[in-house]
Amino acid sequence: MVKIAPSFLSADFRTLEEEVRRVEDAGVDYIHLDVMDGHFVPNISFGPLVVEAIRKVTELTLDVHLMISDPGAFVQAFADSGADIFTVHVEVEAEMDALLDRIREADMKAGATVKPDTPVSELFPLLPKLDLALVMSVEPGFGGQSFMPESLPKVRDLRAEIERQGVDTEIEIDGGIGAGNAADVVAAGVDVVVAGSAAFRDGKVRENVAALRQATEAGLALREQVVET
Ligand code: DX5
Ligand code: ZN
Repeated sequence: MVKIAPSFLSADFRTLEEEVRRVEDAGVDYIHLDVMDGHFVPNISFGPLVVEAIRKVTELTLDVHLMISDPGAFVQAFADSGADIFTVHVEVEAEMDALLDRIREADMKAGATVKPDTPVSELFPLLPKLDLALVMSVEPGFGGQSFMPESLPKVRDLRAEIERQGVDTEIEIDGGIGAGNAADVVAAGVDVVVAGSAAFRDGKVRENVAALRQATEAGLALREQVVET
C-alpha cells in the first residue's frame, strides 16, 4: 500500500493535538513535518520543540523534512525530540555519506532529497544508505504551490535505479500533490505521498485523505498493469 503523509505546514497550530487526532482517524501513515530556517529557504516554520510536542500525542511515524542549511548540527536534537525519519537536502553540500551514517547512528531513518533543479542522479550513490529518497515537486519553502510535472521522470529514473541496485529505499514525493495527480505519481513509482493543503483543505481531513487514498490505489493498479504488460 502507498503511504500517505499529511504535511503539518497546513495544519491549524492553535489545536495541534486535535489535528493529530484527525489525521490518525483518517488512517494516514506518516506525519510530515517541514522544518525551515529562513536561510536554506525563504520561510521559517518550527524546530524540535514542536516535533517533541507532536511526539507526545502520537505513535505515528514522524517524517521530518529539514529545509535548513546545517542539518548536521541538529541530528541529535531531532532524534531527542522523537523524529523517526530525518531527511536532508543534498544541496546543503555537507559530506552526505558521513551525515547519513550519523542519522542512522542516532536511531533515525535516513532520507535525502533534491530540489526541482537538482538532478535526481545525485541521490543514486547515496541509495545504499537511504531509507527514504524524496523528490521535491515544488520549490521548497511554502505549502499550496502547483505540482511541477518535471518531477515525474525523476521518480521513474529513481525507481529504475532502486531496482537496479536492489535496495529497498522508499520514494516520497512532496509538493502540490492532491487527489487529482496522486494516481500519476504512484504509477510513476512513488511509495509515500506528502500532501499539505490537499489533506487539510476545508478542515475535512477524513474526506480529503479518503480521496487521496482512492487515487493512490488507482495509481498502484496502473503501475501493476504496466509491469504485467
Ligand atoms: C514545501 C514542503 C511541503 C509542503 C507541501 O516546502 O516541503 O511539505 O508543505 O504542501 P502542499 O501539499 O500544499 O504543496
Ligand atoms: Zn516537506
